[in-house]
Amino acid sequence: MGWTEAGRRAAGARALSVRFFRDLMDCAVTNLLINIDHVATLRNARQESFPDPVHAAARCEAAGADGIVFHLREDRRHITERDVRLLKETVKGKLDFELSTNDEVVAICCDVVPDLATLVPERREEVTTEGGLDVQATRDRLEAVIPRLYNAGIPQVSLFIEPDPAQIEAAADVGANCIELHTGDFANAATEADQRAIARQLADGARAAHDAGLRVHAGHGLDYTNFPLFADEVPHVQEVSIGFAVMARAILVGMEPAVRAMRRVVKGY
Ligand code: PXP
Repeated sequence: MGWTEAGRRAAGARALSVRFFRDLMDCAVTNLLINIDHVATLRNARQESFPDPVHAAARCEAAGADGIVFHLREDRRHITERDVRLLKETVKGKLDFELSTNDEVVAICCDVVPDLATLVPERREEVTTEGGLDVQATRDRLEAVIPRLYNAGIPQVSLFIEPDPAQIEAAADVGANCIELHTGDFANAATEADQRAIARQLADGARAAHDAGLRVHAGHGLDYTNFPLFADEVPHVQEVSIGFAVMARAILVGMEPAVRAMRRVVKGY
């Protein structure tokens, strides 16, 4: 049956309003996920059982975090398998499992079934994750790992990448449904002009990813002072992953005030 003119107009209006509300929600709500790896680093420095990252996660959620992030490293330098299992049982919001494509860690992730698996590059010598994945160079490995994650029941698979159009296209190509834009260079920029220039590259990346149907996340080095400029410039960011800035403040003022303050910054009030 063909379309009548009135039907065509109604369908057009419906599609427009769905898009309008999707974009509105997309802009209005940025989820704040807190990375608790540094709590485990402190615990492990003295080979102690405290401070416990699982307790820290509960405090973060009580203070309004939308979810918790951890990175189970191949060398287990901070988060351990015990932490992962308990976080899965206790975190009420979104659980983001950061991992490399190492077979053993992928198997643990598939067994735990977090809400989101974020694939990151990993080098033993690095102090923290140093940059985005090279999706093109690691395509074969990613194409083997990503279906394993989905088949285990993990609904979202994200790739931590630079705001490079070729990487974004490759991320969609290998089957990720999210990307996390690496904001480390933005955070480390020496001047505001440099920071704005990098933010514009991040904005182009975010738009390209959004147009390709990918969810856009961001993280690394975001803090209480640089976030407003980032939010001003970069659209479509549905989720941010923030660790160091919040943990550094939490040591001085307590976990809940530190998370609440970051929540106010991220939510814009
Ligand atoms: N996103 C990813 C992929 C990371 O590896 C990290 C650092 O662990 C973060 C976000 C958070 O970075 P920061 O601790 O600087 O806030």
